[in-house]
This record gives sequence, structure tokens and C-alpha cells, in this order.
Amino acid sequence: MSHSIAVLPGDFIGPEVIDATLEVLQALAPRYGLAFEFTSLPFGGNAIDRFGEPLPQVTKDACSAADAVLMGSAGGPVGDHPWNRLPREKRVESGILGLRKHLGVFANLRPVKVFDGLEHLSPLKASVAKGTDLLILRELTGGIYFGKPSHARDDEGLSTMVYQRYEVERIARVAFETARKRKGRVTSVDKSNVLDVSQFWRDVVVGVHASEFPDVELDHLYVDNAAMQIVRAPTDFDVVVTGNLFGDILSDLAAVIPGSLGVLPSASLGGSVGLYEPVHGSAPDIAGQGVANPVGTLLSAAMMLRHGLDRGAAADALEAAVQTALAEDPTVDLGGSRGTAAFTAAVIAALPAPAPAAG
Ligand code: NAD
Ligand code: IPM
Ligand code: MN
Repeated sequence: MSHSIAVLPGDFIGPEVIDATLEVLQALAPRYGLAFEFTSLPFGGNAIDRFGEPLPQVTKDACSAADAVLMGSAGGPVGDHPWNRLPREKRVESGILGLRKHLGVFANLRPVKVFDGLEHLSPLKASVAKGTDLLILRELTGGIYFGKPSHARDDEGLSTMVYQRYEVERIARVAFETARKRKGRVTSVDKSNVLDVSQFWRDVVVGVHASEFPDVELDHLYVDNAAMQIVRAPTDFDVVVTGNLFGDILSDLAAVIPGSLGVLPSASLGGSVGLYEPVHGSAPDIAGQGVANPVGTLLSAAMMLRHGLDRGAAADALEAAVQTALAEDPTVDLGGSRGTAAFTAAVIAALPAPAPAAG
């Protein structure tokens, strides 16, 4: 049976890491009795240029109809750029948010793992990074990213951080259920010492824990302290559940533990179709140089195989091949010598030999 995958390459390094990942998936397919049908769709800045909007209807429809959505990264340079001068609803980032909302993927899993033997790639002491295996569970379709009212006027800027009870309850359930399959520990991160919305978040998390998941260990950290504790002692953490904005910030911070933002994957779940994308952005500063690290996208594809397509054995093989290639000689952002193409070839070379059994 063939898996239909909606592919959104995006902008700048997005197409580079997506090309690498599709090449690896095509090499993996025959070894695990897999067949993919990839449909490449306009999304992001390239879609603005061609269709006047970042998330055209054709892309929305194709994503809804697919078995999974695999995205690169979209967006323009951080400074002044035509895409950044558009009204808010026409901007690339509104397309990204619009896609998440369209698919209803409220649970964003951002695993941060230091593979055994690769702790030397971390700028932290190897003894601190070693054994890191935590999951940032970011609420993805609510909070200050979507709250109304919101505006930027001559003399006032306003955003609204709001959470409904059902939104906190459902992400809390995902956190506790996920922790049960891991180390049984949830840390909820908020700013309840200052923000009413965070006090509400904490109260709801405590309620769900007491009534449904008393077997799971729960503790709470304020977000400022959490930022410090996560890099000071990453192995103290299992599942870190937090709101949309705090999860965005903490996940880029946590990328320092394995050594580069280029290695972090994500899966966004909870709707009918899952969305799989690296945590990093379109990195215009390195685009076109052949040095984009494809690992975040490759590991996102592994999450797609595992969570979206129920192909756990193929996911394991892909992750193992990435680990082997990193151990041999990593990409330049990690201090190695390999560019995108050489690293991709090394991953393919490290895939297991063709096996008769389906995975
Ligand atoms: P960024 O993640 O693109 O880059 C931050 C830094 O990390 C840069 O120095 C970059 O070179 C490096 N980096 C990122 N990915 C890398 C990789 N795979 N390999 C090697 N180095 C890598 O963040 P930014 O510069 O703040 O944002 C650039 C654009 O990307 C903006 O338009 C932003 O809105 C967008 N963005 C999109 C997504 C997404 O598509 N989901 C995510 C984050 C940012
Ligand atoms: C991410 C990105 C996006 C976010 C932006 C580009 C809309 O930073 O996926 O982490 O803030 O969610
Ligand atoms: Mn981000």
C-alpha cells in the first residue's frame, strides 16, 4: 500500500533539507516494503510570490487528503524583506499558523535527544549532555499566537494570551499519557507567579493529574527558571509541557544540548493528519551553500513513519542510520566536515540491507 505524503518544501534551506529527506525515504522504501507518493505543494514565501498568499487552498486541500504532511521550513530573512512588509494575515508565519490550525494539530512533540556516543557534539560538558532524552510538548493551536484582540497601531501594540479549559485539558492528557510510556515524569512550565492565564493553566493541569493520572509524577517550574534548569541539568527532565510561546522559545534553547538547531525534529498531532517538520527555520544566512543540516527533517520523517504511518521498524532504521552517519563525521554546524549531500549519502549508506519483511 502506498502512503500519500503532502510535501511542503518551503523557502531557502527548506527545499534543501526536504530533497535530502525524500532521497533517504526513497532509499528506505524498498527495504521495508514501503511505497510513497510525494506531492510537492506551494507554501510560504514561494506561494506568496506565485499565488499572493502563503497557504493556498490547493495546499490546504492536499494536506487534509494526505496520510501525512512533511514540511521543510518557510520564511524570509529576519530583516527588512517584502514578505515581512505584508499585512499580518498574508505573511509566511500566518501561513504556518494557519496550516497548524487547519489540521487541528494542537500537540507539538519536540524531542531533544543526545544519542549515545555523540555527547561530544554538545557545547555543554559531555557529562551534562550525556543521556539527554527529554520531550518538549508544546501547545500549538492556542495561547498568545491566536488570542484576540490583537493589533499593532500607531500608539499601541496588543496581543492576548488566552487558554480555554478544554485546550489545557487535552494537552495535559497528551503529556501524562506520553510520560506513562517514557519515564513517568511531567514538568509543567508556566509563569503563574505573574500571569493569570498561567495560574489557570497550572490549576487545570493539577486537576487533570489528580483525577486521571495520579500515577505520573508532576512538578511545576516557572519558565525563567525552566530555561536555566533545562540546560543546567537536561537529564533531570522527561516530558516538559507548556504553552505555545514558552514552548517555541524553550525548544530553540534546548537545541543547544545536542549541539545544533539543525538536528531537532517535531511532530504535530491531535488532528486527523499529522504535520512533521524540523524545529528550525529557513536559515536564509546559509541557504544555497550546501551546508544545511538535514537531520531535523530526517528525524521528523522518522516520527512520521512511527506516529503517522505505523511503520515503527522503518523509523528505527532511519534513526539508527542518522546516528551512525553523525558518529562517523557530522555536518559542519556540528563541527564536522560534511555538507548536506555528503551527509545524506552517508545516511543512505548506513541504512540496513534490503530486508524481505515489511516494517
Ligand atoms: P532559523 O532557525 O532559520 O536560523 C537560526 C540559526 O540557526 C541560523 O544561524 C541558521 O543558520 C541556523 N540553522 C537553522 N537551521 C539549520 C540547519 N538545518 N542547519 C544548519 N544551521 C541551521 O531562525 P531565524 O533566522 O530566526 O528565522 C529565519 C526564517 O525562518 C524567518 O522567516 C522565520 O520566521 C522562519 N521560521 C520558520 C519556521 C518554520 O518553517 N517552521 C521555524 C522557525 C523560523
Ligand atoms: C517554530 C517557528 C514558528 C513558531 C514561526 C515561524 C511561526 O518559530 O515552528 O518554532 O513560532 O511556531
Ligand atoms: Mn520557533
